Amino acid sequence: MYTIGIDLGTSAVKLLLMGDGGEIVRIASREYPIEFPRPGWSQQDPEDWWKAVRAGIPELLEGVDAGQVRGIGAGGQMHGLVALDENDAVIRPAILWNDGRTQKQVEYLNEAIGREKLSRYTANIAFAGFTAPKLLWMRENEPELFGRIRKIMLPKDYINYRLTGVHCTDYSDASGMLLLDVERKCWSREMLDICGVTEAQLPRLYESWETVGTLLPEAAARLGLGTDVAVCAGAGDNAAAAVGCGAVGGGCCNISLGTSGTVFITSDSFGVDRQNALHSFAHADGGYHLMGCILSAASCNKWWQEEVLGGGDYQGEEARIAPERLGRNDVYYLPYLMGERSPHNDPAARGTFAGLRMDTGRADMTQAVLEGVAFAIRDCVEVARGQGIDIRSSRVCGGGAKSALWRTILSNVLGIPLELPQTEQGPGYGGAMLAAVACGAYPDVKTCARKLTAVKDVTQPEPGLTAAYEKRYRVWRKLYPAMKPFYQALAEEE
Ligand code: XUL
Repeated sequence: MYTIGIDLGTSAVKLLLMGDGGEIVRIASREYPIEFPRPGWSQQDPEDWWKAVRAGIPELLEGVDAGQVRGIGAGGQMHGLVALDENDAVIRPAILWNDGRTQKQVEYLNEAIGREKLSRYTANIAFAGFTAPKLLWMRENEPELFGRIRKIMLPKDYINYRLTGVHCTDYSDASGMLLLDVERKCWSREMLDICGVTEAQLPRLYESWETVGTLLPEAAARLGLGTDVAVCAGAGDNAAAAVGCGAVGGGCCNISLGTSGTVFITSDSFGVDRQNALHSFAHADGGYHLMGCILSAASCNKWWQEEVLGGGDYQGEEARIAPERLGRNDVYYLPYLMGERSPHNDPAARGTFAGLRMDTGRADMTQAVLEGVAFAIRDCVEVARGQGIDIRSSRVCGGGAKSALWRTILSNVLGIPLELPQTEQGPGYGGAMLAAVACGAYPDVKTCARKLTAVKDVTQPEPGLTAAYEKRYRVWRKLYPAMKPFYQALAEEE
């Protein structure tokens, strides 16, 4: 038996074929464009996602007995607003998780409606990337398009819709819409009223491992699969990655260094961060989690290596950093290239280098980028620690986790061991695992994760380096408050 995992990311879809024993049989990937029509805006055409999946699955299945594929599960970029009209046509490009256009709507929700009410209705407050402020933005700025909305869904739900014709979502991804009562796992009537939408426009809710339908004949024929292949509800990419890395059940932590950076803390029971700096969401294993999200993580390194230095020789650039320079860099970097979500909730923030000198070289700046992202992750960890959550170790995944140097920096900045799972394919592997549970291969997500996930390498913090990074983190923390008035002035200019 095989299952297919779909990781619907921001720059590409990664598809993974998983065998009976959890082995990865093959991986295929297709990229798609992202539009930045104005500073801080980001959007994508959902048709591009579907085209990429449609082209990638046949490639994944080349030379494989496709009759053995029993299930499909997707982990997708969260919060994106996909809106369909009465003919199921996409009304406008999807507004993505790292889009900052909704600052005014976020202020309205957090100030006029009020954080206390929002937290009571949904367990969360409004952040620019969340779906509800995007609905308000559309209602205000594109009233004609807003009036045509018949179905609202999240990115991976659009893929599931094209596969099965079923309009559905799962609790982990729905949590990030700011429309779900996360504790009770149902749509919040109050939030629907505030956003001017009805339950009929929203997808039906499922647990991540539940089967929502089987392949439509047309989709099955295009993909080279049978119509009996089960599609499960899937999960938001962070919840799917946590499953794929074995962060299930209570008391685990998974850090993702992908386009975004996330700190994902699992819990068997529902809980809210009293400051609302961390999101309180459902997990794909049936439990809950708290999560901090920084909007630019590995994407900062990509920007620095590919757009600024050029060449994209990641290993070569890292090799320029002398080991004895770790913890002793005078350059500081704020990674806010798309504004920042956790903990600042500030779409106006921007990337910043500080502390440059005449003798500053490119290696210092490369190092500052890796360190700045690690410090921003530490900000999220500090919020959790402030809530009395004791994070003693963490799994780490995502493209950035492939770098041993970055893992060393992060481990010492956080002062905890980092465990690298056997597979780096977090969301795709988690999606394939959820599908295996849907097909009955495992009784539940926890059992599946216990059987299929393992750690292949642990990075231990070193006391001297941890102390050096502690000092640097204290200095780095002064930079955002100092820059904030400047960012505000910049925003007024734009
Ligand atoms: C999480 C978030 C990002 C995206 C990235 O809240 O916005 O991690 O899910 O795909």
